[in-house]
Parts: sequence; C-alpha cells; structure tokens
Amino acid sequence: MGNTACRVLGITSSPIKRGNVAHFLDYALQAAVAEGGVITETISLRGLSIGDCIHCNWCMAKQTADKLCSINDDALPILKKIGECDILVLASPVYFMRLSGVMACLVDRSRCFIFGKQQHMALRGKIGVALTVGWERNGGIEATLESLHWAFQVHEMQTVPVHQAGSFIGVGAVSGQIVDKENKLRVLGDEYALRSVRLVMKKAVAMAMENLKAANRIR
Ligand SMILES: Cc1cc2nc3c(=O)[nH]c(=O)nc-3n(C[C@H](O)[C@H](O)[C@H](O)COP(=O)(O)O)c2cc1C
Repeated sequence: MGNTACRVLGITSSPIKRGNVAHFLDYALQAAVAEGGVITETISLRGLSIGDCIHCNWCMAKQTADKLCSINDDALPILKKIGECDILVLASPVYFMRLSGVMACLVDRSRCFIFGKQQHMALRGKIGVALTVGWERNGGIEATLESLHWAFQVHEMQTVPVHQAGSFIGVGAVSGQIVDKENKLRVLGDEYALRSVRLVMKKAVAMAMENLKAANRIR
C-alpha cells in the first residue's frame, strides 16, 4: 500500500470463499473507493493459520519493527498491514451469537499494538469499522459488532457512528430467513444494510482524510 492515499484494509474471517461476508466487505470497500483518494486491500483469513495469543509478553520486551509478535504464523504479515492502514474494516460472520473464532484470535494477537516495545498504542486514532453477516436478524449480529467495536475502543481507535444509517457500533446484514437455493448471496438484497454501509464508509473516509491532512500526508 502506498503512503499518499487513504489506505483501507478489509479483513474477512468467513471460511466461505465468495460468500455473504466476502460480498458485504467488497461492497463496503467499493463504497470507500467511490469517495476517491482511497486504495483498498482485502485479506481473507480462510485457511490461514492464526494461533491464539499465548500471553508470553514477548512483544513487550523483544518486539522489533519487522517482527511484531513471537508466534511465527500467518498473523504476522497481517498484523504488519494492520499497522500500516488508515481504515481497518473487520468483517466476521455471526457464529453462535458472536464473532467467529479466527477473528477473535486475530483481535487477541493485535495486543502487540498495545503494549508492544516498538508499537505502543500504535493503532490509536486509526478508523475502525465493524461488519457482520448473520443468518438471523436477531441471532447475534449486535453481539458480534459489539465485540469488534470494543476491540477498536481498547486500541483507542476512532469508530464511525452514523445516526442516519441506524449504525452506532458497525453494520450488520442478514443472509437468511428466506431459504432460496438459487440465491445464496442474500446479503446483497439487504437494502437497509447496504445503505447503512455506504453511509458509514463515506463518513469513515471523510474522517480518515481529516487525519491524513492533520498528519500532512495529503493536502
Ligand atoms: C458454526 C456456525 C454458527 C452460526 N451461528 C449463527 C448464529 O448464532 N446466528 C446467526 O444469525 N447465524 C449463524 N450462522 C449463520 C451465518 O452467520 C450466516 O450463514 C452467514 O451468512 C455466513 O456468512 P458466509 O457465508 O459469508 O460465511 C452460523 C453459521 C455457522 C457455520
């Protein structure tokens, strides 16, 4: 990712390659691109090895600019990209009324940005957007968004409440309720969620642009 545009990093934790979460995240990133001056990157955690944080505290004493965490797995390059982005969009499916396990592992591993020897509170001020897709309208969407929202708060990141979008802690969409074997991407028919995510991403980009101006990265 270059350094002069607003860098948006989207991460999906769905194991389904081109499923509802992937499409919802794509839609959000396209809405950001439509604002101009934005570059995006998407990472899928599908099939990757993302281990638990083992609370070894290595990051507190031994972290270097090139190695953020002691565990040598697929989280390392992802954490580096998280450290470089301006807007972080975390998209998880709802699993058992909460976020998916692999997303929870990645969030825990981001502790290296809190107490890290090199990366102390390094995500502070970045923009965080939480997205989720659940089968049910009332089956855990809010808890999933809350969990991601609190992770952003712990990092002292900026979140993006948009009253007009009915969105205060992120955007949830519904993929189920009507069983239709011909159409498995029902998230793209959730007009309310699509409108909400457009408004949230518009505001997220505006907030990030203000940050970039303040940091003299753009004029
Ligand atoms: C293990 C598992 C648990 C799930 N638990 C819930 C749940 O608690 N509430 C819900 O609304 N949907 C639940 N779902 C359904 C998914 O959230 C839903 O199908 C979603 O669209 C998945 O998106 P994807 O196809 O992009 O992965 C669950 C699915 C799986 C595989």
